[in-house]
Amino acid sequence: KPLVFSGVQPTGNLHLGNYLGALQKFVALQDSHDCIYCVVDLHSITAQLVHDDLAGQTRAITAAFLASGIDPKKHIVFNQSRVPQHAELAWVFNCVARIGWMNRMTQFKDKAGKDRENASLGLLAYPSLMAADILVYRATHVPVGDDQKQHLELTRDIATKFNNDFSKRIAERGLGVEMAMGEETVNGFFPLTEPLIEGPATRVMSLRDGTKKMSKSDPSDLSRINLTDDADAIAKKIKKAKTDPEPLPSDVDGLAARPEAENLVGIYAALSGMSRAAVIGDFGGKQFSVFKPALAELAVDKLAPISAEMRRISADPGFVDGVLRDGGERAGVLAEQTMKSVRAIVGLLGD
Ligand code: TYM
Repeated sequence: KPLVFSGVQPTGNLHLGNYLGALQKFVALQDSHDCIYCVVDLHSITAQLVHDDLAGQTRAITAAFLASGIDPKKHIVFNQSRVPQHAELAWVFNCVARIGWMNRMTQFKDKAGKDRENASLGLLAYPSLMAADILVYRATHVPVGDDQKQHLELTRDIATKFNNDFSKRIAERGLGVEMAMGEETVNGFFPLTEPLIEGPATRVMSLRDGTKKMSKSDPSDLSRINLTDDADAIAKKIKKAKTDPEPLPSDVDGLAARPEAENLVGIYAALSGMSRAAVIGDFGGKQFSVFKPALAELAVDKLAPISAEMRRISADPGFVDGVLRDGGERAGVLAEQTMKSVRAIVGLLGD
């Protein structure tokens, strides 16, 4: 049965990229799948150990999940550290994965910067914990933005190596399912997870520079729309967004060498549920002075209710904590089932 898992770090404000690349998709998958959505607090201490208010940030992301429309009764919403099986499986995966695999991760190279020797060991092992998040539920589908693609390929590499290295024990214990791997069929314990990276906004770019990703860490607040921005801030940021002087092209191919125009059209498409071609159908040949106010109105219509709902939910931290506690209990039961099998396969004595 298909199972969806995804995670968001409780570091900084959520922005439009997080919403369109992740949250909006989390919401859309709820009708057709069982979903587990996790605030990954253990990942947040890999790049920076000491945070002013990590617990508060965890609650804020949870409020954003709920305000976007995730139903914590039908699905599971919790914070990662509450279910210690994530860290336990990550340790096993640290012994499955190779240092070379981790060294090749572009996010590690970006975040570690020049002084790699001085990055935390946790930052290097980050993708191994991410693989554990997903595979401790044996999740089959993971909705994410484009920047997580390499991490999900690594998750498949870890699952493949585990399945191969332990293939005999998996088969002996009857714990595998038949799955195709290249030419062969193997008896795998962990599924090869599919990334869900689709639609017009898998990589939302900075409003100040169409060649840079919209990100929590950009020093310019004008580069991103935060989920907590009010209507005036949203309108101002879109008005000030960088563009080229040409009007919008008359067909989508005309967006190719125009990163800022492409980004704004992609945002409009994702917020409205239209294709990029349909947006160009409406606005092709028009000036940005016409398109930008329409985009601002659409963004405010979509985001203002979410940010109001976030404020409402955040006013009741007891309620948010209750959601996380309940979600953690249900996630823990599922994670423990997987870990019982993993301990048996590896030979770690449990009960
Ligand atoms: P994080 O917290 O950086 O981002 C959360 C989600 O937002 C997406 N995203 C974007 N999408 C489109 N355009 C952008 N500019 C943009 N910026 C961010 C991210 O791709 C992500 O989907 N490693 C993950 C968290 C994680 C996780 C997991 C995800 C931990 N374990 C297991 C999936 C499954 C991260 O740092 O996301």
